[in-house]
Order: sequence, then C-alpha cells, then structure tokens
Amino acid sequence: MNTISIAIDGPSGAGKSTLARAAASELGYLYVDTGAIYRTIGYYVLQKGIDPTDSLAVSNALPDIHVELEHGADGLQRMRLSGADVTAQIRLPEVSLAASAVSAHPQVRSFLLEMQRQLARAHDVIMDGRDIGTVVLPKADVKVFLTASDQARARRRCLELEQRGTPEPFEKVLREIQERDWNDTHRAAAPLRQAEDAVLLDTTRLDFRQSLKALLKIIKERV
Ligand code: DC
Repeated sequence: MNTISIAIDGPSGAGKSTLARAAASELGYLYVDTGAIYRTIGYYVLQKGIDPTDSLAVSNALPDIHVELEHGADGLQRMRLSGADVTAQIRLPEVSLAASAVSAHPQVRSFLLEMQRQLARAHDVIMDGRDIGTVVLPKADVKVFLTASDQARARRRCLELEQRGTPEPFEKVLREIQERDWNDTHRAAAPLRQAEDAVLLDTTRLDFRQSLKALLKIIKERV
C-alpha cells in the first residue's frame, strides 16, 4: 500500500508538534512526534546515571532500551519505556537537553531509524523532528521546514511551561533553546538543516490559527 508522508523539520519551540498534530487531525493522518522518541532515550540515560554526552556509554545501553509508541483514539502519542508510560516525564527541561545530547550519537540515530520508517510505511503520517525530510523520509510527499525567531520560540515555550504548571524564567528558556539549536545544527550526524526541496514556513509573526492555515495550504497544494 502506498502511504502519504509529510515531513516537518525545524528548531525547538517552532510549534512543530502543536501544528503537526492539528494538521494530522484535520487530514486524518497519524501524527508522529520523533522528538519524543529521542526524549525517551534521554530520560533512560538520566535515570541510569549515564552521561548523555558519553557516546560509548550511551551506545552500550541501547540494547537494554525498549521504546514503544502508542497512539490513542484521541491521536495523542504516548511513550513507553520498558512498558512504563513516561509521556509526562520526558517533557521535563533536563530531559530536553539530555535528548539533544543523545541525539548527536550516530548509534542512537541508527537505532531509531527503522522504527520511524516503519511507521511511515504503515500509515499516512505527519512526522516531525530534525532530520525527517533529509534522512528518515527523503522521499516524503511534502517537506516543510518550520521555524521562528529564537525570541518567539522562547516566549511560546515559556507559555507552554506555565500552562503545564512548571514555569521557568524567560532568559533560562531562551538560553536552553539557543544551546539546543547549536547542538542540533552542529552535530556531525544528521544535523538539523532545511532539505533542498522543503518549503520554508516562518511563524514568527503568525499566531496558531494563521500558522495552521499556512501549513495546510502547503500540504494540500502538494498532496
Ligand atoms: O522535538 P523535541 O524538542 O522534542 O526533540 C528533542 C531533541 O531530540 C532535540 O533537541 C533534538 C532531538 N531530535 C533529533 O535529533 N531528531 C529528531 N528527528 C527529533 C528530535
């Protein structure tokens, strides 16, 4: 069966997951949040007291890591680590940095590659991440590079953390976003970059409704 794949890449806090989830629900596709998979690995290594930047230690741990994705009827993606639901825990700020660190190791990326491709073979998907259009699904039907200024992204992340009941100071959130941007774009393995055939969507001056409209327009014009 031929399935449709929409790849959405971009830096942290650009609104990829909220927009991709809304677009997937509108189109009836499965939404796959690949960042959550890297976060689950990051969470595991933190729990085990492994240094996320230690490539050898992280690689040695991979065979013990059992990650599963579940999609409920509500379209929400839940993450399981060795059977335990870790959906909430992987959103903690320390896990964000650990996820960024473990995602730099080529062994981690290849460990997760087939899992992501399998989902796209089995379903019509909107998949978001950093290397979906460049590495995971290079033949995706539509590729979008979704971005916004770092200040706008930090403001949105602050709001999200506030709504979750875990507020953080703006300056700290901005610094973390800049640090993750640097990590994600400077690593040797599958760095974040816009695929040549990706459409650029900058949401700095757009609200959610305008961004979703623009995203759906890009998709519908091409599928
Ligand atoms: O999208 P996110 O913020 O939840 O992702 C967490 C980290 O995982 C991010 O800093 C980089 C990494 N990541 C990646 O390297 N490749 C992906 N396809 C998705 C996420």
